[in-house]
Amino acid sequence: MKYFTTTSNASRRAADCVIVGVYNRGKLGVGAADINAASKGHIQKHIKSGDISGEPGSVSILTNVPGVKAARVAVVGLGKSGELKASGFRKAVAAATRAIANTRAKQILNCLTLEPVAGRSPYYLARHTVETIHETLYRFDQMKSGRKKAPMPLSSIGVSIAKRGDAGQASRGAEHGDGISVGVSLARDLGNLPANVCTPSYLARVAKKLATGNGKLSTRILSEAEMKKLGMGSLLSVTAGAVEPAKLIVMQYKGAGSSKPVVLVGKGVTFDTGGISLKPGAGMDEMKFDMCGAASVIGTMAAISKMKLPLNVTVVVGAVENMPAGDATRPGDIVKSMSGQTIEVLNTDAEGRLVLCDALTYSKRFKPEVIIDVATLTGACVVALGNHRCAIYSNDDTLRNELFTSGNSAEDLGWQMPLGEQYAAQLKSNFADLANIGGPGGGSVTAACFLEKFVDGMTWAHLDIAGVAWKSGVHKGASGRPVPLLSEFLLSRAGVLP
Ligand code: BES
Ligand code: MN
Ligand code: ZN
Repeated sequence: MKYFTTTSNASRRAADCVIVGVYNRGKLGVGAADINAASKGHIQKHIKSGDISGEPGSVSILTNVPGVKAARVAVVGLGKSGELKASGFRKAVAAATRAIANTRAKQILNCLTLEPVAGRSPYYLARHTVETIHETLYRFDQMKSGRKKAPMPLSSIGVSIAKRGDAGQASRGAEHGDGISVGVSLARDLGNLPANVCTPSYLARVAKKLATGNGKLSTRILSEAEMKKLGMGSLLSVTAGAVEPAKLIVMQYKGAGSSKPVVLVGKGVTFDTGGISLKPGAGMDEMKFDMCGAASVIGTMAAISKMKLPLNVTVVVGAVENMPAGDATRPGDIVKSMSGQTIEVLNTDAEGRLVLCDALTYSKRFKPEVIIDVATLTGACVVALGNHRCAIYSNDDTLRNELFTSGNSAEDLGWQMPLGEQYAAQLKSNFADLANIGGPGGGSVTAACFLEKFVDGMTWAHLDIAGVAWKSGVHKGASGRPVPLLSEFLLSRAGVLP
């Protein structure tokens, strides 16, 4: 894919398709006004006839517009003038892309970047353009046999800028958008693959492959025997009933010499049956998405190594399958974590925290600047926040705020959630140091409190992504979230945001 920026007017640039917008009440956006003038009122004519409106999501593709160099003009509705936000901008670009995908256009020039979008610089508008186009064109059909619908033959994405001086910012935005899109697509692919393909060993192979031929990135895989030596009795208790061997995946990206790394820990439960505390059958297929935390941290690694960020980042993934069997862990079993703390497993379906706690303890050896774990951890999180925002927990106010702000900037939203000893007290066990469940109330919070018991002085945050990692229903599929949030956080830490 090629990316370019241009100061040419919408009507003057030869492209397969330009995207322009109109607001309610027939108010023309910058690009639409230029095309309207060059074509002696063509756009206004269509507005009068009612074919084009400012209705958000509406798109008309015009061809052979007189006086216009581009072969096609996609006119999208932008809603009320003066109220366009980044989310509306992305929706408009997505709607235009879907319509353009039905044509033979190979180049897209987005002129919506000339519109005023609440608080957004040319950098973000260029980045969101690239991210949105890739996200919209994403397909997952590798498991289908027979002839597949040809992907849109897109070869270049252009971004309109108002002045030459914006070119540097906008092209950096496009470059970062490209890197983030690579990460999002990888995370979506890994999430969408079925659990009989995407096993712990498969995730390990993908992580290994990402590092081959990349001087800054290395991957190490720890076997069950090595994890046993380390004393990871908690993680291993989850894989006890599984035939697929568990893997601990460690990826190290070195972009900044010897500075302390940001460590990202991912829950990689490649399938969660619930174990002996078996889940009900309805919708259980969606538990193939229970490795989306792992997919997002691996995807983020792909993104930052593509963007060549000057930063050190380490990824640790606990990859296991949670299966019932004769040798599976039973409710009431007590296991010993790598930290030395004993855990009473009151419910084998609360397995994510059992995997993450040992991964957190292991991560201490990297002396993290900060450590962030990402997990589809609790159904309770979906009850609390729905499918719109992930839950952000942290033992550090600054870090929690930083992640919240990163989510806002990246249009990959999160919400700050509490920790506290009242919640942590729910994890008391009569027989072990702590129980792995905290009773009916505040399930996402008590899960976070469980993890906090293993951070041992590290500056830590936890993202519960159970509600945002995938969509159910007709659009069932992995979202790639929170790769944009994590990438934004790292771009900001690396100091490369304009
Ligand atoms: N992977 C699930 C959480 C989950 C459930 C995510 C539904 C998305 C949708 C996790 O391992 C789990 O089963 N959690 C239990 C915890 C409970 C037993 C305390 C849950 O949420 O029901
Ligand atoms: Mn579970
Ligand atoms: Zn799970």
